[in-house]
Amino acid sequence: MKDSDKTRMIVIDGVDGSGKGVQSRRMLEAFVRAGFDVILTREPGGSPAAEDVRKLLVEGDPEKWDSMTELMLMYASRRSHLRDTIWPALAQGKWVISDRYADSSRAFQGIAGELGLETVEKIHHIVVGDFEPELVLILDLPESIGLDRANQRGDQENRFEMKSSEYHAKVRAAYLQIASSNHQRYQVIDANQEIDQVSEALLEVVNRHFDLKLALTKIKQ
Ligand code: TYD
Repeated sequence: MKDSDKTRMIVIDGVDGSGKGVQSRRMLEAFVRAGFDVILTREPGGSPAAEDVRKLLVEGDPEKWDSMTELMLMYASRRSHLRDTIWPALAQGKWVISDRYADSSRAFQGIAGELGLETVEKIHHIVVGDFEPELVLILDLPESIGLDRANQRGDQENRFEMKSSEYHAKVRAAYLQIASSNHQRYQVIDANQEIDQVSEALLEVVNRHFDLKLALTKIKQ
């Protein structure tokens, strides 16, 4: 495949508190500085309607939805995200960076939530069809470190963080399992390092995959 034929969508995914937020903003910065037309988006959310659904998912009692209802809500919001944000941006030739995407549903609802990957794939196929991001970067670190970081944020969006430590351990293992299924699409990055080192590792993978020369603005000189 020629580089110009590749879908210009990059996903940054991983356990809660793995640094996806800061790393996706830094990736955006690197694309902007290199002169590319690029958007940064996120899930759950990423379009006005999907952000409405996000609120239902990330706030309140962890038990208020079971995994199946979570999956339905995630895919309702994903459909809106694709239709209103991702697909139009790609059609305009923009790059899309997304903080989480469908592998979060595979890991959280499919594996940790025990619905099974097959169930997620069936729904995925009905809602999304064959569309796939080109590259998924998975930030990996021990889930307990991630949860400590996430809990320090102290915001209201903690419905998933309040689920059991067993659940989060399964989420971490799930991402590694998913990543091992397709070495072309998935790259696992060690997120248990300094922010700059993680950013460097991410940019290196992106540069190699898309034949780009993105550079980092370092936080620590
Ligand atoms: P996010 O805002 O990325 O949380 P954080 O910044 O704490 O990582 O996502 C909110 C939560 O939603 C997160 O705990 C993971 C969960 N989630 C799923 O369970 N399934 C999904 O498909 C998505 C997109 C997110």
